[in-house]
Amino acid sequence: MKNIPVISPAYTQPVPARWRRDMERVLISDRQIARRIKELSFEIERDFQRREMVVVSLLNGTVMFLADLIRHLSLPLRLDFIGVSSYGQGTESGDLVFTKELRLDVRGRDVLLVDDILDTGRTITRVLEKLRALKPRRIKVCVLLDKPARRVEPVQPDYTGFKIPDFFVVGYGLDFAERYRNLPFVGVLNPKVYEAKKAPKKRVVKSTEAKE
Ligand code: IMP
Ligand code: MG
Repeated sequence: MKNIPVISPAYTQPVPARWRRDMERVLISDRQIARRIKELSFEIERDFQRREMVVVSLLNGTVMFLADLIRHLSLPLRLDFIGVSSYGQGTESGDLVFTKELRLDVRGRDVLLVDDILDTGRTITRVLEKLRALKPRRIKVCVLLDKPARRVEPVQPDYTGFKIPDFFVVGYGLDFAERYRNLPFVGVLNPKVYEAKKAPKKRVVKSTEAKE
């Protein structure tokens, strides 16, 4: 795949007032996302011509991306989900747990695996192993975001929305501790938000309370 937009670490756009406390900056706007998804859908349509594809999407981070992507695919397709979640609430992917198994039969089919973000690559690698065992004809991987700096497993997506620097991002389906999925843009979370979560502030006892 050619011409993958690369977002530079210095790139920033103004944060809407509503989100200014939690977000450090907007990294990719809703308009940039929409434009890029159209380009991705052209490429996917071209590669999957005359084949009925099975789109397999990973829950929960792909909700917005998937909905916007498949509405641009004018191809016969079937859709199913795999639930995968990593333990813990942190910003690192921990041990993987499958929370929902695939139900459609993918044997001999062309599969498009959709995920929100490729980080270390551990999730996609585990999911690919699982899918390959079901003997599809081929599997192509599509991710909205790729953070190549953090890669541990040698995974290369076939379709990538944007390459981003090593920031923890939220919005457009991506979460921190299950929050911020509803933001229409991809933004960089203010580190204060996750630092506060890791080390909750001790409650300050006011002098009046201390006397009681
Ligand atoms: P990997 O297994 O390290 O590639 O991580 C993939 C999963 O971790 C993604 O599907 C996300 O759920 C989560 N993840 C990785 N980086 C981020 C991020 O910057 N923001 C939110 N979630 C992330
Ligand atoms: Mg995910």
